[in-house]
This record gives sequence, C-alpha cells and structure tokens, in this order.
Amino acid sequence: MARVVPEVEWDSEAPYVAAIERLKAERNAVVIAHNYQAPQIFHGVADLVGDSLAMAQLAAETDADVVVVAGVHFMAETAKLLNPEKTVLIPDLEAGCSLAESITGADIRLLRERYPGAPVVTYVNTSAEVKAESDVCCTSSNAVEVVESLGAPRVIFLPDEFLGKWVAANTDVEIVLWRGHCMVHERFTPEEIRRFRDAYGGDIQVLAHPECPPEVLAEADFVGSTSGLVRYVDENRPSRVLLITECSMASNVSVNHPEVEFVRPCNICPHMNRITVPKIFESLRDMKHEVTVPYEIAGRARRAVELMLEVGRGRGG
Ligand code: 13P
Ligand code: SF4
Repeated sequence: MARVVPEVEWDSEAPYVAAIERLKAERNAVVIAHNYQAPQIFHGVADLVGDSLAMAQLAAETDADVVVVAGVHFMAETAKLLNPEKTVLIPDLEAGCSLAESITGADIRLLRERYPGAPVVTYVNTSAEVKAESDVCCTSSNAVEVVESLGAPRVIFLPDEFLGKWVAANTDVEIVLWRGHCMVHERFTPEEIRRFRDAYGGDIQVLAHPECPPEVLAEADFVGSTSGLVRYVDENRPSRVLLITECSMASNVSVNHPEVEFVRPCNICPHMNRITVPKIFESLRDMKHEVTVPYEIAGRARRAVELMLEVGRGRGG
C-alpha cells in the first residue's frame, strides 16, 4: 500500500479498512476485486483479485456466505449465477460497462435469424439476459479457445467488435461481429503508442488489452487479458512498460515490481471507479446492494458461463 497510496490518504482510509475486516469476519464474507480497482481496494481490502475469468472461477470456489464484488455489475451477476445460494453484493449499482450496454437479448435473437445455425459466443461483459440467449461465454483470456471449442465454421461473437477482430486474426473460424466497444480501450490510438516509443528511443515494451482497436494492437509487443498482462510483467520483468489498458492496473502491478518503470496514458474506467473503500464498508454494513438474477434467465445464463469454465477445465486450466 505504502508504494502506491499517498500517506496523507491513509488516515481517512484506515478506519474503513479495519471496519471492513471486522464485518468480513462477522458475516463470513469475501471481497473479490478486479485488476482495475483502485490500489487501496486491490491491496487494502480484497481477499481475491484477478481478471474476469479468475473472478468467475474464484466466485465458484469460495466457501464464503457473502461475496462482495469490487468490480462492475456484470461481474457481480456472473458471481451470482455461479453462487445462487450466496448473497452477492455490489457496492454501487451504477457501476456498469459500455460493452454490456451495447446489446440486448432481442439483438441476439435477430442475429440468430440472420445467421441460422451459427453458435453465439458472448463475452462475459454482458448482462445475464444476454448471456441467457448465448451458447457459451468467454473472457479476453479464453476467447479463441472457446470459439474453437465449438467446432463450427462460423461463430457469432459479441458484443466487443475489437476483441472479435482479435479472435478472427487468431483463428480460421469465420467471426460475425457486433459493434460494441469499451469506452476506455477504444480511445487509444497507434499515434499515441508511436509517440511513447519515440520518446523512449524504443526502450519500452508495449502491452495491450484486446479490447483496443486492431491498429493499436498492431503496435503492441504483447496482447492479453488483464491477468495476461500482469503475467507478462512477472515473467519478463522489462525495464520499462507501457500498459495500454485501464489506468489503475499499472499502480496495482507496480507494487510487486519496483524495478519496472510503468509509463501510463491514464484512461480511467468511470464504472470501475465508482467502487470505493467507504462504499465497500457500507455494502457490508447494510448488506447492499444485493444482486439477483431473475429465475427465468438464470438457468440458461449459468449454463453459458459454466460451459466456458468447462472449456478451461478441458485443457487442465
Ligand atoms: P479482463 O477479463 O481482461 O480482466 O477484462 C475485463 C474488462 O472489463 C476489461 O476492460
Ligand atoms: Fe467495461 Fe471497458 Fe470499464 Fe471494462 S474498462 S468495465 S470493458 S467500460
């Protein structure tokens, strides 16, 4: 914490952190945080951290009675789908996602009419209603694997157009795209990356998330999910890194790598940013906001998420 959270902020956060720990013990609760959460959450109060796939797996494995999701709404819904008997809380109900908002279940039904027989692979950054209309879900760390697991010549991939294009570039399966975008990653440009490369005389490793536009990914040295990017830094320990993803992640990763210089164009996700330490405290204190999934869609949505997890288990992952 000391490496990333300024000392002046400790006094205001510390009582909340202590109260959260007390409430976690009282309620048999865990806090699962996404890699994009602010460092005081990621390093201060989270019990488990990871990318969307890891969060889904951790939610499925935990013995806790209460799961607080420090992330966005679709992540909390996924946790609820995999833990129907547990209480799943999100500290701020407004923590949404531009990708999740880009598509509805009705859109998928129309796509199925237009492309009969083509299975639908849905990125987990979607509502449970959309998942329920899908054959299988995927995350950015298993998208190619999930698409190929279906053995179909053509697959409808949604809602992220750029992740879909990344998948298309890495498989022979024909990919039908939807034009949803992440409001954080769509803003990166290749010119921006080239400017950074020029500024550091080329002595910089560019790591990008596949939600970025293809021309940005073409400039990267490595493309991966948030956890894939963390792993790359862990394994390669480059002297200087440009992380082309949400801004908070560089702070979180830098804690374990004081020897690596993190250069970051700071694009913040306003949805992820809605979650704060005081809101996590209030969430546990008042048991709010409980996330539920209507019975009519929960079964089908769960099946799509569980099928994704089975693809991972199939390769021993
Ligand atoms: P990851 O699955 O790579 O963590 O991505 C989730 C996300 O919301 C990226 O913007
Ligand atoms: Fe959604 Fe983008 Fe925010 Fe991730 S970073 S939660 S994809 S808006």
